[in-house]
Parts: sequence; C-alpha cells; structure tokens
Amino acid sequence: MCGIIGIASNKKVSTNIVNALKKLEYRGYDSAGLATITNGEINEKKCSGRVEKLEKILFQSPNEGNLGIGHVRWATHGVPNEVNAHPHSSEIVSVVHNGIIENSDKLKKEFEKSGTTFKSQTDTEVITVLLTEKLKKLDPLKAVFETIDMLKGSFALGIIFKNHKEFVIGARRGSPLAVGYSNNENYLGSDSYALKSMTNKISYLDDGDVCVLSKDEVKFYNHNKDKINKEIFTLSEDKASVSKGNYKNFMIKEIFEQPVTVKTCLKEYIDKIREEINFYNLPLDPKEINKIVLIGCGTAYHSCLVAKYWFEEFTSINIEVDIASEFRYRKVRFDKKALYIFVSQSGETADTYAALDLCKRQNVKTCSVINVVESSIARNSNCVLPIHAGPEIGVASTKAFLGQMLVLYLLSLKISEVRNDMQNIEYKKKISELKKLPTLISEALKEEEKIQLIAKDICESKGSMFLGRGSSFPIALEGALKLKELSYLHAEGYPAGEMKHGPLALIEDGLPVVVIAPKDKYFEKTLSNMQEVIARGGKVLLLTNSDGKVISENIRFQINLPDSDLTLTPFIFTIPLQLLSYHVALFKKCDIDKPRNLAKSVTVE
Ligand code: AGP
Repeated sequence: MCGIIGIASNKKVSTNIVNALKKLEYRGYDSAGLATITNGEINEKKCSGRVEKLEKILFQSPNEGNLGIGHVRWATHGVPNEVNAHPHSSEIVSVVHNGIIENSDKLKKEFEKSGTTFKSQTDTEVITVLLTEKLKKLDPLKAVFETIDMLKGSFALGIIFKNHKEFVIGARRGSPLAVGYSNNENYLGSDSYALKSMTNKISYLDDGDVCVLSKDEVKFYNHNKDKINKEIFTLSEDKASVSKGNYKNFMIKEIFEQPVTVKTCLKEYIDKIREEINFYNLPLDPKEINKIVLIGCGTAYHSCLVAKYWFEEFTSINIEVDIASEFRYRKVRFDKKALYIFVSQSGETADTYAALDLCKRQNVKTCSVINVVESSIARNSNCVLPIHAGPEIGVASTKAFLGQMLVLYLLSLKISEVRNDMQNIEYKKKISELKKLPTLISEALKEEEKIQLIAKDICESKGSMFLGRGSSFPIALEGALKLKELSYLHAEGYPAGEMKHGPLALIEDGLPVVVIAPKDKYFEKTLSNMQEVIARGGKVLLLTNSDGKVISENIRFQINLPDSDLTLTPFIFTIPLQLLSYHVALFKKCDIDKPRNLAKSVTVE
C-alpha cells in the first residue's frame, strides 16, 4: 500500500512533505521517512511508527533542501522497522515506492551473485540498486525507463538524484500517482487528497507514464518514451471538515455524522419537487439490463451483499455479487447487457480497480459507487455515482458503508421503476419512507449508553458470533468485521440458519452472540436459531424492533430499534453494531482510527 510524496520548490520542502505524509497516513502508518538534497548530498531520515515520530526527529535535526520525497509505509516485504522504512537510498539516488515488485527476489539474487549486499528486506531496494547501476552510464530519465522496464508488479515511484537537485522523477504502473501544480513549486503524490492543502490543480499519471517535476514545470512521457500533455483538473472544494471537532476520534465522529451524510445523499439524488430519484447517466438503459454484477472488498463488499436483496426484491434482474480479489482471477463470462457496479469508498483499492480494468478491457458497461470522486476507479468507470459522505478518515468504514448502501438502494428503486418492475405508487411510498432515514438513524444512535454497558460485558471474551437472515446476514458479516478490525476480538458473521451445519459447535458458556432479528419475514426463524444458541450457553445480544417487549428471559441484552419500512432495516441495525465495536475497542484501549496492521486505502493485491 503506502503513500508517496515528492516536492520540487524554490523554498525548503521538508515541512510540506511531513504535512502531506500526515494526510497519506490512511494508506499506511507503520513507518515513515523522507529524503531531501542538502548541500549536494542525499539526506535521508526515517523511522518505524507514525509521521509524528518522524516530525520529532526532524525537529531535533531539520532537513534543508528545496527538493525531496517522502513515504508512509504499510509493510509488505520485511517487518516495519527503520531499515525497511523508505526512502531507500544509495550514494547517488533515493527512492520511495508504493506497490509490490514481484520479481524482486530474482533480481536481488542476480545482484548478490556479483557481490552486492542489500541493507533491507524490502522489494523496493532492488529499484535503488538497479538505478544506481544504470546511472553509471545513462542520464536519470533513461535510467528510470530502463529500470522500470525490468520490474514486474506494481509501482508508483518518487525518485531524487544527488547530482540533479532540480528535479524529482515520478513513474507509475498499477499504483496511483498524481501531480499537483503551484507557483514556483510542483508536487507528486499518491492521491490528490495529500496535495489538496497545497494546490487544487491536478493531473493524473496513467499506467506506464513517467514525469519529471521541477519547480517551474512538469514534463510527462508515456510508456513509449514520447513526450505527452496531460489534462489539468481543478479539484472540488470539500464541504465536510476533516477535523475531529469535539469528538475523541474520527470514527465516533463519523458514526454520529451519519444522519447528516444520509440526508445529504438523499438530497443529491431525490428531486424534491417531483419526488423522483435522479440517475442521469447510467451507461445502459435499465430496460435493457439482463444482469447486474456488484463487486467490492471488505465493507464495500458487504454493501453489495445487502444490495443483492434489494435488487432481487425490487427488480426482475439477475444479480451476482463478487469479491474483487476473486472476480479478477475467475474465468468470467462477460455479458454486454450486464451492468458491472464497483463499490469503493477510496476508489483506489487495487483489487477493485483491477476488476474494473478487466471489465474495461472486455468493453462491458461499468458504474462506480464511490466516495472520492477524483479517484482512479471513478475516473475509469463509465458512470460515477458518488455517495456524498465527505472524507472518511477512520480506517474502519462507517458512514461510507451507509452511503454505499443508500446509493445502491436508490439505484435498485430507480431501475425497478424504469423497468415497471415496481408500481409507481409503491415507488413513491418507498421514497417517502427513505426520507425518514436520517431521523431513524438518530434514534438508533441514542442506544449508545446501553451499548457501552454491553461492550464492557463482552470486551474480555475470547470470541463472538454475529447472526442474521436475509439482508441481516450481510449486516452480521459487517458487525463481525468491525469488531475484529477495531478490537482484535475474534468475531464470525454467519447466516443464522447455517449454525446447525457446523458453527453451533463453537457455542459455549458465555460466548457473546449478537442476533440481528428485525421483525421481517425471517423473524420467527431467527428467534428459533437464537434459542438454539441460548440452550448451549451463548450470551445473546438481541437486536430487534419489537416495541420494547422482552422476547425471552434468557436473553442477556436486548436493544429495540425504531420501526421502519422493512427494506430499510440494514441501515438502522448497522448503527448499534458500529457503536458496539467502537466501545469494545475503547475498553481494550485499541487505536480506534488506526487499527494495527491495516490501512485506509488498500493499494496492494
Ligand atoms: C472497512 O472497515 C475496512 N477497513 C475495509 O474492509 C474496506 O472497506 C475495504 O478495504 C475496501 O475499501 P474501499 O471501500 O476503499 O474500496
């Protein structure tokens, strides 16, 4: 994964590099580093841990220099320590890298045969060694082209050269890379978000592109080494703030923001006067669609799973759901009349992007449900449906999940109406029910105090289970994912009806089991499954909307959530699960916004 930055300026760059690295920490936060050219030498500083630590090192011993590169790491090859942190420098060249060099072992072995020793365990150092060799005979640009020709895998690179303190070279294949423009200063960054505080003028490198960035100009070359021009985009203003305000951390802020983000998204898509859902630019006429394929990873994949129930309920279209990392390697039969929908908060997830790219090459119609509208996935799909959630900073996705579900819900309704799968009166009723969603979510958030008590009760458990049927099944998966990623407590999400086929063996005295049972058509069946758990000693937290009545004396906790149109329960029942994982993690003193081993944007396979 990792985030990279490069700056060429007429003034010192290290403070701006550090500030940009702080923005990139969502891509990796297990080590950080930078290098500048100071008095004609490469001056490298790096450490394990956060950018804050790097900042302290620089405070003790500042880096001079008007040209530099920086990096935040999410370890792939080699433990997160100072030696493995980027940049990786030789006497004459310094490199930061995002991606994975798949043939690094082979290249390393060849160098080792001729006596080269490697300092780190990383795949990146081989790039430094290759460049150092090539620079003996070639100028920097040619050396970069020859080097990247030898690399297999994915990369976004930022490179500085001891003997050329006037430029940074950037190169991209597979991993994203943006260029930003300002007066007497130009930038290279893994994404536009990192550059946003310095400029709103951005270009994007395509696969195979190389750029040479000096303070006054940026030159671009394509994979054939031909000079090319790039379109310059003006970034949109962020309406939402990226500060924590009075909240303890971003995650809890983002959980409590949800009534507002849902309201904003509804406003964007529902025409107030005509009570109509607007989707103007779908790449296929809904009447012509014979299949919809929903693709995503992690939480985004869960939103696809929920949406399958809505599309099946509202439309007559066949629906498939796929995990992007599986889809990209399967022998998929592509269908020109199918709509391939890619769901991603960041829009940079490598697996999702690769699956989209596969569809693009097959010339089938794609659509992306995205939070970051300038992202690679958004730019490469036929149609973009933004979720309008504002920046999501906490690594655990919360408001983006609700946003993804909401856009997919709206899309399923609209497609159903256009195809006459749903009667207009029902369609209008669903829209009016949807408008109640912000209030219903606010009501659900009021359960926080009760959830704190439950969190205290379960935080020392060695495992947990989350059960649901119908659209509550993917919500169970999402609840379990949130709990494991935030609190490192083992959690399994399961369809309640599957328990008897194996997982029931896991139930023992005191094991926390969260049962998601809205009063829908599955209600009675889910309660029977719950009783089977209780009979074996499971400690049940029941989420339902049964008007406050306790359903069974043997339930340890029960939370009654507000009633709604039954197709809307996934939105409401997600809230207590987000709060539960948050409070368990808080009791366990875990790092809420940056859980161990993870990153916000997963740009490796
Ligand atoms: C969510 O809490 C996770 N951190 C993770 O599963 C995430 O949803 C997944 O990596 C996909 O990210 P994306 O939405 O940016 O593509």
